[in-house]
Amino acid sequence: MTKQNNSDEERIILEDIESRLSSFGKDRWNLIPILQMIQTRHHYLPADAIRMVANYLDIAACEVYGVATFYNQFRFNPPGKHPIQVCLGTACHVSGGDIILENFERKLGIREGETTEDREFSLERVACVGCCALAPVAVVDKIVHGRMAPSKVEGLLLGFQIEKEKQERAKRSDESNL
Ligand code: FES
Repeated sequence: MTKQNNSDEERIILEDIESRLSSFGKDRWNLIPILQMIQTRHHYLPADAIRMVANYLDIAACEVYGVATFYNQFRFNPPGKHPIQVCLGTACHVSGGDIILENFERKLGIREGETTEDREFSLERVACVGCCALAPVAVVDKIVHGRMAPSKVEGLLLGFQIEKEKQERAKRSDESNL
């Protein structure tokens, strides 16, 4: 996805938020319901949306940001097409979950909580996903992958890359047949 597409998309998101703000009172206790509305509708809180909410409630943007970071239900980056969650619950942590997270970070060139520039992948750490016997665990596209190892990280990402290249080749051949 290009930067232009990203900014067009963000403009549409901001217009949507602006049109809905007036249904909330301007009291500061509406801050969390407003943030929840944005998170539910758009799956993250864009930086400009945080400023917009701060203006609307007449409070400092850093206060909005402070409240949003306190609750881990809020994200600050758009979700990737393929969301990756690495479990760092106790069983996964002691089985090397942090090494798995670090491997994803290194291979994708992003930190936990971020999204790749092409919006293909987002990466986050999560608490126990309930499959401790399979530790360390990663959830990719909502599919649980147990007994993760650095080679499995590489294999998973390679699989996505091969699939993407296949789709691009098919698209190019469709275009050339027009
Ligand atoms: S701690 Fe990771 S699945 Fe339970």
